[in-house]
Amino acid sequence: MTDFINEYSMHSHTCGQLRREDVGSEVTLCGWAWHNRDHGGLIFVDLRDREGYTQVVVDPDCVNAEDFQAAEHLGREFVLQITGTVRARGEGMVNPNMATGEIEVMATSLTVLNTSVTPPFSIEDGIETDETTRMKWRYLDLRRPEMYNNIKLRHVVAQALRSALNERGFLEVETPILANSTPEGARDYLVPSRPNPGKFYALPQSPQQFKQMLMCGGIERYYQIARCFRDEDLRADRQPEFTQVDIEMSFVKENDVITMMEDVMKEVLAAAGIEHEFPLQRMQYREAMDRFGCDRPDVRFGMELVDLTEIVRGCGFGVFAKAVDAGGVVKCINCKGAGDWSRGDIEKLAVIADENGAKGMAWIAFTSDGKEKSPIIKFFDDETYAAIKEAAGAEPGDLLLFGADSYEVVSAVLSALRLAMAERLGIEREGHALLWVVNFPMFRYDEEQGKYAAEHHPFTHVLDEDMDKIESDPLACGSYSYDIVMDGFELGGGSIRIHNAEEQKRVLRRCGVSEEDLELKFGHLLHALELGAPPHGGIALGLDRLVMLLAGKQSIRDVIAFPKTSSASDPMTGSPNAVTGKQLKEVNLRLL
Ligand code: AMO
Ligand code: AMP
Repeated sequence: MTDFINEYSMHSHTCGQLRREDVGSEVTLCGWAWHNRDHGGLIFVDLRDREGYTQVVVDPDCVNAEDFQAAEHLGREFVLQITGTVRARGEGMVNPNMATGEIEVMATSLTVLNTSVTPPFSIEDGIETDETTRMKWRYLDLRRPEMYNNIKLRHVVAQALRSALNERGFLEVETPILANSTPEGARDYLVPSRPNPGKFYALPQSPQQFKQMLMCGGIERYYQIARCFRDEDLRADRQPEFTQVDIEMSFVKENDVITMMEDVMKEVLAAAGIEHEFPLQRMQYREAMDRFGCDRPDVRFGMELVDLTEIVRGCGFGVFAKAVDAGGVVKCINCKGAGDWSRGDIEKLAVIADENGAKGMAWIAFTSDGKEKSPIIKFFDDETYAAIKEAAGAEPGDLLLFGADSYEVVSAVLSALRLAMAERLGIEREGHALLWVVNFPMFRYDEEQGKYAAEHHPFTHVLDEDMDKIESDPLACGSYSYDIVMDGFELGGGSIRIHNAEEQKRVLRRCGVSEEDLELKFGHLLHALELGAPPHGGIALGLDRLVMLLAGKQSIRDVIAFPKTSSASDPMTGSPNAVTGKQLKEVNLRLL
């Protein structure tokens, strides 16, 4: 990648390039004055560029007086061009922690290409600067080696994806940004259209409908590194604009898309220096929910959910018995190593349960010296208590945390507690674990809106055997859908699509789309499906999430050159901005 970086350039070498073999060469380096030290007459400068840094020595006997004076007045982040001779460092001066640590450059001339005012924070890895400051001066943040490496890794991953897809006959096609709404479950970003007063574009939440149109257009294999826009609550793994590696294929079944993705991922991981076993495990959605309480399980550690519903049915503890009577479930997780936690520390975990909808968090602690502490043991008869312990595999040193509620609430609560306890107990989660979660339910019931909604999106093909249940029993319909999960994150998701207009109408109607809106909002798609649409399916990977996990970062902001804050703003440019009354008038808008 760096082979040609010295061509078309003011430098002959980068600051990370010179080695012992280069001793004696005349070189020219360009970069930033990183650390400057005046050692009584001799001036040492660590000159840094994106590839690394090199120690430069400025000796008044080797440069002219003017250059030496400039060297004496260098500030941090001054931009320099230095010409000099490479020499081996003296005995004991070699720095083994530095790629160029065996050599230094004796300057023969030094040119200040630009000065710098004092930077608002140090350009160093591992700095404690708050993130908003880093984002306000993002270009300084990007000068840090760590950030450069993230950006470079992103490039390597994107290129590996492109080349793996190119080799398999995929065409890279761009789709519109000014578009109409594609339902992916978030709010749209709207853009007013000046020539069409009162009308708006929606920025794409994904290129979903366009890629299906490309399949109807006979393109057969498409990909795009596509920018997507979603107005939703932001988290560490969510940005308002993010990047998908968006893929669609014609004449395929679920297994074809999954196998293609695995072959591509194998190449991408290899490019990032990571080996992983393939083929990947395919876990049924229901199994993921039963065992881990979530559809993107981190399978790098156990602490799986234990179902106690049948054991506690009709038991003496009212909370459990009532939950079961109401059609709910009772489950627990066994946190090994937390049995000696104090009552106070255990009770603090209830906050996590509460945040996820629990009405309480029952627990039993088994201390390592054989005692049992709990507010609930007293409610159980000996037999029930023994059965609980046996099912949970309880031993001294263990802490059991319980959830008793609907299946959904218990899953959410115990899944959150499982992850929190893994964190607090320092359970090792080294390396990467990828798997598929397949066969998501087609529909879910949206309590807030009082109607059914598509679990993935409404273009997903219902399982053939469930097709007759779309109207009569929507929650029992499965779908040809698959998510690829990495280290507990949803890395990507996709499905086989509906390619039959009638099925598409049935699914849209089931999601509450009116007859009028069928034509108005989905007419283009429905007509395309009537005009010889091929069977097709695809997937989209979250590029930001993939690079974040490969870089070992906690937030996708660290792998996006210019990300937004949690309030969807950019401290560097100040966007979003107010606009003038004239601009609003041009697009026929008035502020409330
Ligand atoms: P989905 O909505 O699951 O599927 O998105 C695919 C992947 O995109 C990533 N992602 C995000 N990354 C960062 N910030 C966000 N706000 C964000 N939202 C999603 C995730 C996710 O797995 N059209 C379908 C794909 C298909 O069916 O082919 C879609 O968009 O990694
Ligand atoms: P209570 O009888 O309400 O004082 O509850 C006894 C214990 O059960 C307390 O530790 C509560 O936190 C816990 N608890 C109450 N409701 C639930 C629930 N829905 N799921 C799990 N634990 C619960």
